[in-house]
Amino acid sequence: MIIPVNIKDGNYNIILENGAISRLNDYFDLKRKVLIVTDDGVPTKYCQEVAKNIAEPFIEVLPQGEASKSFENYKYLLSKMVEYGFTRGDAVIAVGGGVVGDLSGFVAATYMRGVDFYNIPTTFLAMVDSSVGGKVAIDLDGIKNIVGAFYQPKGVVVDTLVLSTLDKRQLSAGLVESVKMAATMDRELFELIETEPVCENFQKIIEKSLLIKKSVVEKDPTEKGLRKVLNFGHTIGHAVESHFFGELLHGECVGLGMLPMCSLSVSARIKKVLEKIGAPTSINVDRNSLKTYLTHDKKSTSEGVVAVFCNGIGDFEFIKTDFDGVLENLDLIIAK
Ligand code: GLY
Repeated sequence: MIIPVNIKDGNYNIILENGAISRLNDYFDLKRKVLIVTDDGVPTKYCQEVAKNIAEPFIEVLPQGEASKSFENYKYLLSKMVEYGFTRGDAVIAVGGGVVGDLSGFVAATYMRGVDFYNIPTTFLAMVDSSVGGKVAIDLDGIKNIVGAFYQPKGVVVDTLVLSTLDKRQLSAGLVESVKMAATMDRELFELIETEPVCENFQKIIEKSLLIKKSVVEKDPTEKGLRKVLNFGHTIGHAVESHFFGELLHGECVGLGMLPMCSLSVSARIKKVLEKIGAPTSINVDRNSLKTYLTHDKKSTSEGVVAVFCNGIGDFEFIKTDFDGVLENLDLIIAK
């Protein structure tokens, strides 16, 4: 299945097909130099498959984890492209999760003012969310995504066969991003995740999530308005993520962050779904320590933050609230 994403300044296709990573030549012109960026958590066979399609492949393997989204690695990859003689006609391919995609996308966006970028997500989270929509970034001074750009890929290849090697915790954390989109924008998808066996429906969940993501980024590619809905759960989620510093996965924090930002009935349903997929629903944390991180969030102003609130499944509203307002329902996720 091909899902076209139509964005001014850069239309591209999402190729959602099993086995697609072995057939990249059918979709893209790769008769050139290509920097393949991956991490040491991604099985090497995927990059080898990708490299077979490329005239001059150069593979760079980074350590797995958020710490790799650093200025040092950004500079390292750019230096490698200079060393290998990359020109403006060459390309970068990310083979990995959100960290690899965000970092290599930013490298592609800035090398010689921009070279072609292809994203091959290998985690559930990257498949349904971060690989689509052109957000590319690195972290700096402990602040996530503080340096970055909107730079659309030339293509995204979602080959769900690669999920067979993904561990359960990563799968569950990635599914949270689908729950996030379903809760706010697609009641049918939410009910599917809520009532059907999840593993047997991966393909359908990914497809439906991608259609939601496509529709949002087409309407608002640079997050002037509607796209902020994709930040549902992220206001508290980012604070939790910073507080636990690497202990919890991004998707797990987003799941926790959604629960205080809904009506009580929606919160109860989302909680059940999180339990079903094996994501955490409570944490041991002191409310005030989260407040410190909330005020440091780059989406905050001195008065507070615009947050997404879910009143009913498939529906949402943006609310302007101060930090105490955000923290009001925090008891819902604090372990008793
Ligand atoms: N991951 C949220 C967005 O793409 O806007």
